[in-house]
Amino acid sequence: MYEKKLLLIPGPTMIPPRVLRAMAVPPVGHRSKGFSQIIREVSQDLKKIFQTDNDVYMLTASGTGAMEAAVTNFINPGDKVLVLVNGKFGDRFAKINARYGAEVIRKDFELGQPADPQVVKEVLTNDKEQEIKAVFVQQNETSTGILNDIKAIKEAMGGHPALLIVDSISGMAVSNFPVDEWGADVVVAGSQKAFMIPPGLAFISVSEKAWKVNENCKNFNFYFDLKAARKNLAKDTTPYTPATSLILGLRESLNILLAEGLENIYRKQEMFKEMVREAVRALGLELLVKDDKYAAAAITAVKVPEGIEWKDLNNLLNNEFNVEVAGGQDELKGKIFRIGHIGYVQDMDLLQAIAALEMALYKLGFLKELGVGVKKCQEVILKYKEEGK
Ligand SMILES: Cc1ncc(COP(=O)(O)O)c(C=O)c1O
Repeated sequence: MYEKKLLLIPGPTMIPPRVLRAMAVPPVGHRSKGFSQIIREVSQDLKKIFQTDNDVYMLTASGTGAMEAAVTNFINPGDKVLVLVNGKFGDRFAKINARYGAEVIRKDFELGQPADPQVVKEVLTNDKEQEIKAVFVQQNETSTGILNDIKAIKEAMGGHPALLIVDSISGMAVSNFPVDEWGADVVVAGSQKAFMIPPGLAFISVSEKAWKVNENCKNFNFYFDLKAARKNLAKDTTPYTPATSLILGLRESLNILLAEGLENIYRKQEMFKEMVREAVRALGLELLVKDDKYAAAAITAVKVPEGIEWKDLNNLLNNEFNVEVAGGQDELKGKIFRIGHIGYVQDMDLLQAIAALEMALYKLGFLKELGVGVKKCQEVILKYKEEGK
């Protein structure tokens, strides 16, 4: 019924009207001169967002397609890989690697804890024959709201030649990630997150070092063969029919992001994180990620309080207050809920979401007083505005 809904899940995210308008146009020829010009423009802009001089390829897929490409283009069957797992998406990297025949060395970290660079150092130092070909990790593990320290993980790798392959699907354009400066070899991102367009496009950057590894990679792939993507991007096109309307939307969203500027975006995201964390604490709820330093700026995971059923809380949020947040996944199902603050979100949206959360918890008998979380949010907004002067 509503055309307007406060969609605060960690993707698909809300879409600016400008971007919707850019996509609502008659079909365009994907091999036309005009569209090539758009591909050129968009791929240059993606490089700015990734802070890289390397190409960033656009794949017609959801984020997992780019994760798969990050495996099949660089890892041979039988290769050893180190996969850092602190949630559902780390687990997915382990599964993709295993499916394509890699020997997975899996290091799990407690849910809500960051991947420990010291563990990376130990595993790679003990790898005397340098058999480990790559380290896989999420920048932002969306299932728990953890921000892994990619810079520290790269430093912990020392002189070991393994590639660093990072899933930044919910981290890119949210938290700083200078891909070249930090030395990440392959980085993936997805359209339905901070890029503020619908699902269906995935992005992947590849370093020179990774291309050398690719030369000797014999793993199976066809649709996600990055050699084909590279050859075609050099001619401002794609190997197969691209998602043309999404690319038109992307051009508009990149214009918005770059006009705002990466520094301003990261600062705004920090403000969102602080608003939600402070409000949640003030309401007497527990955060899954305790340490602010490792809390994601894209999403905040909150424990469902004792005595409350997630489905009741979710029903109230959705049906009475028209706010959609995400539940927990896998073993965290029913135990946490996740407030997304990524994409086309403004401070006032979060104020509404916290107000709705308070009313729902009040109705469920958990809160005795209204306005405590909202007040915290207001204070954080004013603090950031004051500091920004
Ligand atoms: C960190 C991370 N990795 C991978 C994925 C999977 O992406 P997709 O669902 O677009 O395939 C997601 C999606 O939420 C994600 O947040």
